Amino acid sequence: MVCLGNICRSPMAEGVMRHLADKKGLQIQVDSAGTSNYHIGETPDSRAIQAMKQYGINISNLKARQFTVDDFDRFDVIYVMDEQNLKDAKKLAVHPEHHEKLQLLMDTLYPGKSVNVPDPRFGGNEGFHEVYQMLETAMAKIVDHLALIHTSKS
Ligand code: 4NP
Repeated sequence: MVCLGNICRSPMAEGVMRHLADKKGLQIQVDSAGTSNYHIGETPDSRAIQAMKQYGINISNLKARQFTVDDFDRFDVIYVMDEQNLKDAKKLAVHPEHHEKLQLLMDTLYPGKSVNVPDPRFGGNEGFHEVYQMLETAMAKIVDHLALIHTSKS
């Protein structure tokens, strides 16, 4: 899960995904990172922590890190929150397979519509709840899909 600062959207995305995967009993590795180095080592924005807490998800222990080229090899899919993240992450891609792993998260729900998860940093608390709703809807679809693949394999 990738955004710009790794303190608002992507740690929320990481928390939602881990929560839903756990509920389904799916064993997947989930992590998040930012394309920038602005907030390395910081915990998520307090409003993100608070909003997530209201949905029963604890992200207070997460620490921001920067997205690196190694992430392309460590993960099967890299979901980015907006089109700028997509451009920035693409700059680090060195193999065609790297490019194929990059996906705009909202394409999961609205393929090809270029829908971005909005940066809630400069708004009020409601922006964090709006982000949560978008993430939850997209992640639920992803997790359902993964569960189907898992079932058909076992
Ligand atoms: P995020 O939000 O990308 O959702 O973590 C932001 C956090 C920090 C900055 C921008 C967006 N910043 O410019 O410092």
